[in-house]
Amino acid sequence: MSILDKKYEERIQKHFSKYPDKRSAVMPLLYIAQEEYGFVNEEGIHEVAQLCEMDPTQVRSIAGFYTMYSEKPKGKYWLQVCTDLPCALRGAEAFHKELKEYLGVEEGGTTDDGLFTVEHVMCLAACDKAPMLQCNFHYMENLDMEKMKQFIEEKRAELAKEQK
Ligand code: FES
Repeated sequence: MSILDKKYEERIQKHFSKYPDKRSAVMPLLYIAQEEYGFVNEEGIHEVAQLCEMDPTQVRSIAGFYTMYSEKPKGKYWLQVCTDLPCALRGAEAFHKELKEYLGVEEGGTTDDGLFTVEHVMCLAACDKAPMLQCNFHYMENLDMEKMKQFIEEKRAELAKEQK
């Protein structure tokens, strides 16, 4: 039994139950691998391939094709800020800049504690709710730096608690 299978068995079986064959669940399982390892690494690719009864090369090509899968390590919270034009008109660029400054990272960078990675992305189809971002594929909308600081400090406090 793989790490993914052990840890996420219920979720994996739920995905399998939605499809006529196991290989159809490859994308949701890649999300689980990314969640577990922080990115889609070789271990995750092999585990997903085994679970979906596919060749690892096929799984690797799917992971490489879609931008929502990362082949590089990310922070625990992957903050993808939309800075496309409609959002930029509602202050998204300034928000993105302030967010990077607050966290002390450059574009695509990860905080030293491994908690946050910040990147800018193109339209996420929530233009009327800017500034907005996607955090591990969950939307956070109508943001400002006060809300973000609160979120960031909550996550930092959770990490400090875990480390005690
Ligand atoms: Fe940002 Fe559409 S332009 S969500």
